[in-house]
Amino acid sequence: MEISAASPQGGGAAGRDPVSNPVTPGAGGAVRGIAYEEPLLFEHGSRGRCGVALPPAPGAEVASDLPAALVREGVEGMPELSELEVVRHFTRLSAWNHGIDTGFYPLGSCTMKYNPKSSEALARLPGFAALHPLTPPELAQGALELMYQLERALTEIAGMDATTLTPAAGAQGELCGLMLIRAWHQAHGNPRKKVLIPDTAHGTNPASAALNGYTCVQLASGPDGRLHPETVAAAMDEDVAAIMITNPNTLGIFESHIAEIAAIVHGKGGLVYGDGANMNALLGVARPGDMGFDVIQYNLHKTFATPHGGGGPGSGPVAVKATLAPFLPLPVVVKEASGYRLVTDPAERPSTVGKLREWWGNFGMFVRAWACIREYGPEGLKATGELAVLNANYARARLQGTYNLPYPTDSLHEVVFDDRGLKATGVTTMDVAKRLIDHGFHPPTIYFPLVVHGALMIEPTETESKEAIDAFVDAMKAIAEEAAVDPEAVKAAPVKPVRARLDETRAARKPVLRWTPGMKVE
Ligand SMILES: Cc1ncc(COP(=O)(O)O)c(C=O)c1O
Repeated sequence: MEISAASPQGGGAAGRDPVSNPVTPGAGGAVRGIAYEEPLLFEHGSRGRCGVALPPAPGAEVASDLPAALVREGVEGMPELSELEVVRHFTRLSAWNHGIDTGFYPLGSCTMKYNPKSSEALARLPGFAALHPLTPPELAQGALELMYQLERALTEIAGMDATTLTPAAGAQGELCGLMLIRAWHQAHGNPRKKVLIPDTAHGTNPASAALNGYTCVQLASGPDGRLHPETVAAAMDEDVAAIMITNPNTLGIFESHIAEIAAIVHGKGGLVYGDGANMNALLGVARPGDMGFDVIQYNLHKTFATPHGGGGPGSGPVAVKATLAPFLPLPVVVKEASGYRLVTDPAERPSTVGKLREWWGNFGMFVRAWACIREYGPEGLKATGELAVLNANYARARLQGTYNLPYPTDSLHEVVFDDRGLKATGVTTMDVAKRLIDHGFHPPTIYFPLVVHGALMIEPTETESKEAIDAFVDAMKAIAEEAAVDPEAVKAAPVKPVRARLDETRAARKPVLRWTPGMKVE
């Protein structure tokens, strides 16, 4: 089957020729980016083929204890393929993916940033990667020392007094931080009822508060995209357990009233939670602990270049002021005269909120983050933050005027545009995002934060070169120009990938997750 840019629906019917399809020039003469139409594994192969056929080991027949009625002769409908067919199938599929190692990935807020290969290599050292979680502490001193050092580094960078490495992602870090706040209030006689959250917050903030039994009170940000002290003062009372603030917020704007806001909340006995997902913008320049935050979570994948949760296990360490330290989850690493030790017994930490997850967190992420911090050093970390801000501002300066900037306030590490300027053409943020795929870029985060209608949130991160950002900006400008002269072309995008625009609502509401023989793939 031939698929060209002129037939944006692409192929996909079951029963097609399982042999690879040729690369075909698209309508505009461009060669398609994806080389193959790929049948499902079930559609490949032929009866009787098999990957590996070793002779049975002599004497290896083992009599089964299972009742004969429960033993199957074979499994109907399973794919039967040679090893080469399987290898080629998965290798071809892997080339369909767009990852940070293949191209620019300007996803704001959820940030896919480059993971240095030196950190990857260290995380794979057999002494770390193959360490069994039940290894006695005296035989795991190196791993415990790494955890201890990472805890101390994260504590210092945040301007706090203690850190737990346990949480498995930023969202679990939030959950943990709120548990600590609840435990602290409880210890003072009243867990309180409400948590204040600005309207720019990531959705995980209200979810974490609700999971801790709190009612969320949404605070409106001002016309400059910032939270204002008078808004907080009006909502603050003695039923409020905490305020959750992301700084810089998800508009990429620094919450410059933070010290005043923290004083208002503390004045009524509340605590200040910091969603530290955007710490990469502050590295080495400012510390949440100095701004009045009592607790923050890090997203190691955003600040210290570890893979994000979706691409591997994540990590969301939580740093706290001394008042909250007794409540931290177990285990914690301590350094004693005889070496490093894990405190696992609640009897040693009677105020602990307990165990948050199995073992002590995603150790491989600790190695990567530790390596990143040690490799950059204090000056390098500061340069990281400064470059993240510079790159976002460069993209902003080049795109301002082409796309509408709803909050013209200075940006830090990310910048949010919208599709207001394209209204007359009928082209929307979704169309721009899809057209970017044809230009070879992963789209930025879209339709978030919710305070911006049709948001396009761009975060280049510190590792991108000027050339990479320029190429992305040029593509964004080309799309805006195309929208003015040929909006239908933008709305038909993407035309280059094997799969054209999916009906995302249908895909979410009526997912078809199981292949059955003869099924029609639309
Ligand atoms: C501002 C903000 N808070 C919290 C999170 C949740 O972090 P995670 O995806 O690691 O659970 C994210 C996502 O990266 C985020 O952008």
